[in-house]
Amino acid sequence: MSDRRPAAVIVLAAGEGTRMKSKTPKVLHTIGGRSLVAHAISAARGTEPEYLEVVIRHQRDRVAAHVERVDPEAIVVDQDEVPGTGRAVECALQALPESLSGTVVVTYGDVPLLTAEVLRELLADHERTHSAVTLITATLDDPTGYGRVLRDSDGGVSAVIEQKDATQEQLAIHEVNSGIYAFDVAVLRQALAQVGTDNAQGEKYLTDVVGIARAEGLRVTPYLVADLWQTEGVNDKAQLARLGAELNRRLVDRAMREGAIVIDPATTWIDADVSIGQDTVIQPNTQLLGATSIGAECVIGPDTTLKDTEVADGASVIRTQAELAEIGPGATVGPFSFLRPGTKLGAKGKIGGFVETKNADIGPEAKVPHLTYCGDATIGEGANIGAGTIFANFDGLTKSHTEVGAWSFVGSDSVIVAPRTIGAGSYVAAGSAVVSDVGPGQLAVTRARQRNIDGWVARRRAGTKTEKAAQAAAAAEAEEALATEAGAVLEGDRLESGPGGPAPTSPPPTEPKDAR
Ligand code: UD1
Ligand code: CA
Repeated sequence: MSDRRPAAVIVLAAGEGTRMKSKTPKVLHTIGGRSLVAHAISAARGTEPEYLEVVIRHQRDRVAAHVERVDPEAIVVDQDEVPGTGRAVECALQALPESLSGTVVVTYGDVPLLTAEVLRELLADHERTHSAVTLITATLDDPTGYGRVLRDSDGGVSAVIEQKDATQEQLAIHEVNSGIYAFDVAVLRQALAQVGTDNAQGEKYLTDVVGIARAEGLRVTPYLVADLWQTEGVNDKAQLARLGAELNRRLVDRAMREGAIVIDPATTWIDADVSIGQDTVIQPNTQLLGATSIGAECVIGPDTTLKDTEVADGASVIRTQAELAEIGPGATVGPFSFLRPGTKLGAKGKIGGFVETKNADIGPEAKVPHLTYCGDATIGEGANIGAGTIFANFDGLTKSHTEVGAWSFVGSDSVIVAPRTIGAGSYVAAGSAVVSDVGPGQLAVTRARQRNIDGWVARRRAGTKTEKAAQAAAAAEAEEALATEAGAVLEGDRLESGPGGPAPTSPPPTEPKDAR
């Protein structure tokens, strides 16, 4: 098999895109988590060209910086003040070695659904037919706005005529130029040198190369693409949404073919760079964004948004918002959890309902189950953070860090004022405000001792329903005490001499209850 790598792919992205009505350059608008031009660059890169060029002009610095970030190897070319697709390609060729030979592919920065596969098919066809020019064409019900493909009697392409330059007869043609081509580089160079700007738009048209090549007796081949989405460009925000929805349909399809179970494709959004393992279930209303990667056999959603988040095998993440978080194998998150950047949850760990975390490294089997803010913290293996615990990480000036050791137990409704260290295997009593460190094995209690004031309700709330309830409870207690006394007299002998020993007079001391 011969080498079909193109000498160069030129991505045209200099146009202004006025119909977008946006401060953002058209090619920087995104679908599927990537800019339009990033999609175009990705398809171009997929053909492994020797050179990949992106021609820019409108908002040049912004677009150039973006292109350099997306593909540092891409060559950014500035188009000069001469307008037109032909001039854009000419500028790109000027930046390449003069000795370059072989095939040059031209694509657009605003055609995001085009794939590398179609470009490779174009290259294969171009080579197989020994053509000087091969252009992707499509047959549209409504060809308005596009350049029309003129064919001569033998079926070959004779020229492309722009909408604004076409006769009534030519406007009736439904076969259009997609604007994606393969050219022999030598033919392209010398034909462009002959192209002028004498047309309705005063532009240097790339399409004129087709007519020039044909007039020189060279072979020009149409390559008809059936999948019309692949050649559709974005011109306004309605088209952006339409193409975005179609791209999503394709990405969800791909995820299912790779083994994910998607319950409701219509409400599932998956970005281009997301990966999902086998038998992971994606519940309705879930958005998997950016560089999110999900392991196998997870449950994600419903109503979950994960951005740049890693989820390991067997984890479940329900009704959750997470960004730049790492969720370990078998861990559980949600419902109603908010994981901010820097959250790391170890294997079989738990982040539960109404918990917000940020820059928090939560160890394996550690649990932060309810109603907690956990920011700037390291939590050791198996530690349990009680309901309503707040990590007070900010003193109004600086953020500080808290460490909670392995298998420690922080009682409910505690505030831990950072910077703080709570040693391994220690306890914090419920309702404590922890303002000094706790050593391993210690119990920290910071709350005031409880006082019960007898008769307070009778004196201060006389006549209320509360007082009546207190009276009723007191009467019932007195009656019960009498009955118990009578019973004890009757059964006294057996109890005192029985194997169980004397009846307990008070309940055994209670262990602190697990707050989960
Ligand atoms: C172009 C084609 C037309 C084709 C259509 C498909 C020409 C003369 N016409 O028309 O036959 O049917 O695309 O969409 O080529 N660009 C530059 N520099 C410029 C002008 C444009 O880089 O000076 C870029 C734009 O950013 C865009 C692409 O080229 O990505 C197409 O430009 P556009 O103005 O949309 O061309 P059309 O008039 O639609
Ligand atoms: Ca266009």
